[in-house]
Amino acid sequence: MLVLAIESSCDETSAAVVRDGRQILSNVIASQVDVHARYGGVVPELASRKHVEAISVVIEESLEKAGVTLDDIQGIVVTRGPGLVGALLVGLSVAKAMAFARGIPLVGVHHIEGHILSPLLEQDIAFPYLGLAVSGGHTHLYRIDGIGRYTILGRTLDDAAGEAFDKVAKLLGLGYPGGQVIDRLAAEGDPTAIDFPRPLLHQKNLDFSFSGIKTAVLNHVRGYTQPLNDEQLRHVAAGFQAAVVEVLTRKTLRAAAEHGLKRVVVAGGVACNRGLRQSLLSAGPEAGLEVFFPSPGLCGDNAAMLAVAGDAYLEQGRTAPLDLNAVASWSLDQAGWME
Ligand code: KG4
Ligand code: ZN
Repeated sequence: MLVLAIESSCDETSAAVVRDGRQILSNVIASQVDVHARYGGVVPELASRKHVEAISVVIEESLEKAGVTLDDIQGIVVTRGPGLVGALLVGLSVAKAMAFARGIPLVGVHHIEGHILSPLLEQDIAFPYLGLAVSGGHTHLYRIDGIGRYTILGRTLDDAAGEAFDKVAKLLGLGYPGGQVIDRLAAEGDPTAIDFPRPLLHQKNLDFSFSGIKTAVLNHVRGYTQPLNDEQLRHVAAGFQAAVVEVLTRKTLRAAAEHGLKRVVVAGGVACNRGLRQSLLSAGPEAGLEVFFPSPGLCGDNAAMLAVAGDAYLEQGRTAPLDLNAVASWSLDQAGWME
């Protein structure tokens, strides 16, 4: 089956054409990062407006790059939530209009469902597996028993990991979004120069907390009388990233052991982080686990990732009605077959 997937939940407008939920024929991503950077974060009204401007062009380009026309498309998959409601509505409205006009079946999927199944676009991974979703809005551990079968094992109690990267970058004056720049600086700094806290590391639960690390960075930086020089910035970045990575790594390994899972998938924007990739790709196999990351181009928001679940739901005839609405807040264990 050939599906057109559309993603507009935050600050990337994306459309993809995917065959059989596995083979990417095109995956066009128009980022709004430059628009929001000057405000230090995503401005929801601007995001909606930019999605409206970009969406038709992005969809046309995705069809063109795939060498297909709308006549070839057998299903439309769209992010239904969670995300910025105005942004989601742009993708959803276009998807519904196209589905109605062309009589193409429509299905709405969960954004994190897209992320956590995205490595299946590149390789076969047997279920069940442990999913660590690390993005700007999520830091969750899931048991993934199959497409549409998700159980939450742990979650952040405050900030998401990506949010912590963005907030720390902002307080260090490094701009928005912060993940990439901290990742780059951290590679040149000493991760042991500053010992930032590892919240909840020794507690038995599988939950996370990142706002304390962010506050510790803020307090540390306030201790300087002069603006930080490049070397100091590199050490702060390295120390912060080491704290986040250690907590994510240790809790992920613990979750896998406690739930008897042998495979781990890490996905979402923070899965691009080189420190996290190195840490889990070495500690995982040492603990007898197979660890999978999407390639960097598929870690951030993109439409192709939606097609894995979308294709499966369409195959099962689980299509959405044309009054399908966006949901700003939606727990993954309420998505999929359980809905
Ligand atoms: O999945 P994503 O593109 O959008 C959401 O669904 O939120 O994730 C975006 C988040 C941002 O917070 C960004 O700073 C973070 O992913 N990020 C990174 C890196 N690249 C992106 N965080 C750490 N290291 C990176 N290399
Ligand atoms: Zn995302």
